Amino acid sequence: MNNTVIPVITIDGPSGAGKGTVAQMLALDLGWNILDSGALYRTLAYYFDKEGLEPEDLVSNFEKIRKDFIVHFEAGIPGQPVKIFFQNQDITNLVRTEEVAKKTSLLAANPDVRAFIKPSQRDFMTLPGLIADGRDMGTVIFPDADLKIYLIASIEERAKRRQVQLKRQGSEVNMRVLLEELEGRDKKDMEREHSPLKPADDSVIIDTSNLDPIGVIKEIKSQPLSFFKK
Ligand code: C5P
Repeated sequence: MNNTVIPVITIDGPSGAGKGTVAQMLALDLGWNILDSGALYRTLAYYFDKEGLEPEDLVSNFEKIRKDFIVHFEAGIPGQPVKIFFQNQDITNLVRTEEVAKKTSLLAANPDVRAFIKPSQRDFMTLPGLIADGRDMGTVIFPDADLKIYLIASIEERAKRRQVQLKRQGSEVNMRVLLEELEGRDKKDMEREHSPLKPADDSVIIDTSNLDPIGVIKEIKSQPLSFFKK
């Protein structure tokens, strides 16, 4: 249990394992806040790209970046990704692309970048509770979470889901390219030195390959925790 009365559930795992959908459904079900940490990293990558900054430039431009980095989310409609606003501009479709994801993965391996983003992630922990979705939510950002979930799924299933998601946004992506990109990104996220993608020792691992989101929620809610009792 964390030291405060604010409950936290972390949902980590590789891309396409179902974190976003499950986090959104659970947040709506419990009436809790949601943190899409991948969206924070994607927004920073978008901003760096726009400003022509490299990860190494973070320290020398710290104050400007801190001032400029104004991000907020809107939970959006169930089934649709959380909306991302940067300086009040809706950039959801601009950053939810595989190209930005690849750049994000590179940027996210930098320890200064992770240290910069850490406090803004903890700020999302407000009453009545938080569902935190990402790669290191249970291991690094909320090690004191009340429940840690780690979702996995086969690479083929994850690529299929990603393709459907991108199609909905209007982009057609070749399956072979998508598989390669996912594999590359997983490898980068899992092998990086700082905050690598891995399950926390005390996490509940759920394979979502053959489960729909409702099935995953059912499994999560079967955990013996007071906030799941209605
Ligand atoms: O979850 P999403 O696909 O939006 O994340 C994009 C990238 O951001 C990931 O591939 C990963 O490199 C990075 N990320 C991270 N730590 C998090 C969330 C995302 O390093 N907590």
